[in-house]
Amino acid sequence: RILASQIASQISLHQPYGGIVPEIASRSHNLVLRPLINSTLEEASLALSQIDAFAATAGPGLASSLLIGNTTAKALALVQDKPFLSINHLEGHLLSPFLDAKTNTITPCVALIVSGGHTLLVHLRNINDYHLLGRTRDDAAGEAFDKVAKMLNLPYPGGPEIDRLSKKGDPSAYEFPRSMINSRDFAFSFSGLKTAMFYTLKKIPNPQHELNNLAASFQEAVVDVLVSKTITAAHYTKEFLITVSGGVSCNSRLREAFVARCHEANLDLKISPPHLATDNAAMIAFAAAQKLALNLTSSFTEDINPNLPLV
Ligand code: KG4
Ligand code: ZN
Repeated sequence: RILASQIASQISLHQPYGGIVPEIASRSHNLVLRPLINSTLEEASLALSQIDAFAATAGPGLASSLLIGNTTAKALALVQDKPFLSINHLEGHLLSPFLDAKTNTITPCVALIVSGGHTLLVHLRNINDYHLLGRTRDDAAGEAFDKVAKMLNLPYPGGPEIDRLSKKGDPSAYEFPRSMINSRDFAFSFSGLKTAMFYTLKKIPNPQHELNNLAASFQEAVVDVLVSKTITAAHYTKEFLITVSGGVSCNSRLREAFVARCHEANLDLKISPPHLATDNAAMIAFAAAQKLALNLTSSFTEDINPNLPLV
């Protein structure tokens, strides 16, 4: 059960630059982390001494930002004489669909993780037993949303903007490629879609009047590939549960398509609720709680790793 999960959003700090500026990110983490921890404890009505273990993300991510969380969690664990757990950010996303008050039980599934930096299909057999089925060869799905949004002069982050405009657009107005949809593996590629948008924009006399249709057609292409490949992966692994996590899983059309196609294919579906789909502390704490139950704590000398792989 989540007692409190707070976020100090930096979106407004980075918005003027159209993307994340690493130094601004880490300096802001350094300023806000202590007060954020205090207000989270207050919300949960807990004292620091009542916390059983301290966890932080070890990667993948920006080194300078990872170091702030890592150092803070280690310091708190040392001072309180409690275990420290170093958590993979992607494992946080991977397990987040199981974080619900009713069960909290992790069961075998095919998991799609779609975020700003990652797109991967994982066969989850058990906690700590993950098999990578495939990943993107170039851009992540969220990155494609953000880059295409930038081309359409929409504010950062572009994913939610495209989602919003698409609701008023026709998804079949423009024909965008479904890259690798029929490839015989579980790899993805989204950079061709970006190029296709670039050339489509050159051809239309007044793209600003076509934003809804462009957004909807682009979004449909991404959704089509993600849903089709995930369902094929479920058949391939003979799993009957699909999970979807990461920021892009907030996308309303992706959610709708997964619900419809899983129903048709007789598959169960768990999608992280939006507040657990985009980056959050609860998913890292949940992964840490699973590991703590298995006594898989980390050493205080464990390093961060900006390229930490999930498997
Ligand atoms: O998981 P996340 O919060 O951070 C990373 O680990 O990257 O994912 C952020 C990504 C961004 O690319 C953002 O544009 C995308 O998730 N996103 C969406 C939506 N909400 C967030 N993409 C499409 N539709 C949305 N509604
Ligand atoms: Zn993330």
